[in-house]
Amino acid sequence: MRTTQGALQKMRDDGEKIAILTCYDASFAALLENAGVDILLVGDSLGNVLQGEETTLPVTLDDMIYHTRCVARGSSKAFIMADMPFGTSQVAPEDTFENAAELMAAGANMVKIEGGSIMAETVEFLTRRGIPVCAHIGLTPQSVNQLGGYTVQGKTDHQAKQLLDDAVALEKAGAGMLLMEVVPAALAKKVTRKLSIPTIGIGAGIDCSAQVLVLYDMLGIYSGRKARFMRNFMIGAGSIQEALANYVKSVKTGEFPTPEHAF
Ligand code: KIV
Ligand code: NA
Repeated sequence: MRTTQGALQKMRDDGEKIAILTCYDASFAALLENAGVDILLVGDSLGNVLQGEETTLPVTLDDMIYHTRCVARGSSKAFIMADMPFGTSQVAPEDTFENAAELMAAGANMVKIEGGSIMAETVEFLTRRGIPVCAHIGLTPQSVNQLGGYTVQGKTDHQAKQLLDDAVALEKAGAGMLLMEVVPAALAKKVTRKLSIPTIGIGAGIDCSAQVLVLYDMLGIYSGRKARFMRNFMIGAGSIQEALANYVKSVKTGEFPTPEHAF
C-alpha cells in the first residue's frame, strides 16, 4: 500500500525525517521508492530539467498530468505530490479544484500550491473537498518576475514575520504540509516549531521535518553554478542506486543538510 498522509504526519510527530526527491518518470519512480524515498515530488522544475525552459512558467497542466501518471505507474509505495503549474492555482478556488482534480485522477496523493496567505481560501476550498494540499512559501519560482531573481527570502524582520504569518494561516486553512524554499535556517526552524504539520525544506536548514532536492541536481546533472543548498550525491557513489541510498541515509540521520547548505 502507498504511504499515506497520516503515516507522514506520524513520522513528523515521531521525529523521523522524511526524505523527498523530485521525480518525473516511471523508471526513476521505482528506483527512488526502492531506495527509501518517502515522497516523490512531480515538480514543475521539469520545465527546467526536462524541457530546457528558463523558468517554470511555461509548464502546462497537461505536462504535469502526463508526468504524474508516469510516476504513479512506476511506483507502488511512495506518496506522490504533484505541483500545480503556473496559472492553474492562481484562479478562483472552484477552477483550482477542477485543475487539482485532474492531477489527483492522474495519481497524485497531494497537490502543491505556491503562495502565502493569499492562497489560504483556495487551500481551505480544496482540503474540505478531499484534495490534500502542500503549501509552498519562501522562494516561489512561479513568481520569479516579481521576486526579481532566485534569491533568499525572509531576510528582513518584516519578511520573516510575513512568512511566519503565512505559514500559520496556511496550516489553519488546512494545508497538510508546508514547503519552504531558500529561507534562513533559523526562520525555518521557528516555523517548524510553531506548526504541527510536517515542514519540507530546500535550502532551509536542518530543522525541517523533511528535505527535498531536485533529482537531476543531486545526481550531478546540471550545468552552470551549483546552488549553495545542493549536494551532488554521485560523488563517492558507485551507482545511481547508491547515490539515492546515500541521500536517504543522510536525510534520515541528519547529516544533510549541513550549515554550508543553509542560509
Ligand atoms: O518543482 C520543484 O522541483 C519544486 C522543489 C524544488 C521544491 O517545487
Ligand atoms: Na515546483
